[in-house]
Amino acid sequence: MDDYSRADFLDLNMFRGLGEDPVYHPPVLTGRPRDWPLDQWADAPRDLGFPDFARYQWRGLRMLKDPETQAAYHDLLWELRPRTIVELGVYSGGSLVWFRDLTRLMGIDCEVIGIDRDLSRCQIPPAERSNISLHEADCAALETFEPLRGAAHPLIFIDDAHSNTFNIMKWAVDQLLEEGDYFVIEDMIPYWHRYSPKLLVEYLAAFRDVLTMDMVYANAGPQLERGVFRRSPKKEQ
Ligand SMILES: C[S@@+](CC[C@H](N)C(=O)[O-])C[C@H]1O[C@@H](n2cnc3c(N)ncnc32)[C@H](O)[C@@H]1O
Repeated sequence: MDDYSRADFLDLNMFRGLGEDPVYHPPVLTGRPRDWPLDQWADAPRDLGFPDFARYQWRGLRMLKDPETQAAYHDLLWELRPRTIVELGVYSGGSLVWFRDLTRLMGIDCEVIGIDRDLSRCQIPPAERSNISLHEADCAALETFEPLRGAAHPLIFIDDAHSNTFNIMKWAVDQLLEEGDYFVIEDMIPYWHRYSPKLLVEYLAAFRDVLTMDMVYANAGPQLERGVFRRSPKKEQ
């Protein structure tokens, strides 16, 4: 059925910058040859001619982290040596495999946990799932996070689903994060700062006794902009 009487319409908002296709396809140049003739070197276009976000990949899996973000996480992994990485928002799953591979290369014994309300788009092959666990759940329900309580530390908790973020941050601070652990909000801080600046500033200030912003990673690139927070020491009662 292809008219308005079809059964339902997908909420296009859920795709936002993701694109409709979770599968990685190698880039195809349009309007220009890949092999450019050197006698026309000076006339060559200086851009790729296609939107480049969908081209980021790790071993053939789409990964929605740009190179600056990848570099910042690389440095954070090496510095913190996390035993657990929790990522809210799996999509095609490339970032989970990348975190697993990178920590493994660094000799870190790390469990990577991905949570998403729709795992049907996850492309991680079964043979690639060691040290990766996937949970289908909605971030709106805080009970989703209860099983994380026994996770090993140091721990990095990444919000890349952007639903119920500040209630999850409160849960994580109260129930999960230990001193030095990280809570990262990807992508959204600039939008929230633009459209809800008063609430954003108020919400972040509410965490002033329990989190600080890590100024090394919070300025490392647009996706992490002002969204990298570290658990402060717990105060004596
Ligand atoms: C930006 S993508 C994740 C990309 C991935 N972390 C990466 O770096 O490649 C966001 C994902 O969040 C999921 N999501 C959105 N709202 C959610 C919710 N309320 N609960 C769980 N997952 C949600 C979507 O299904 C989507 O797969």
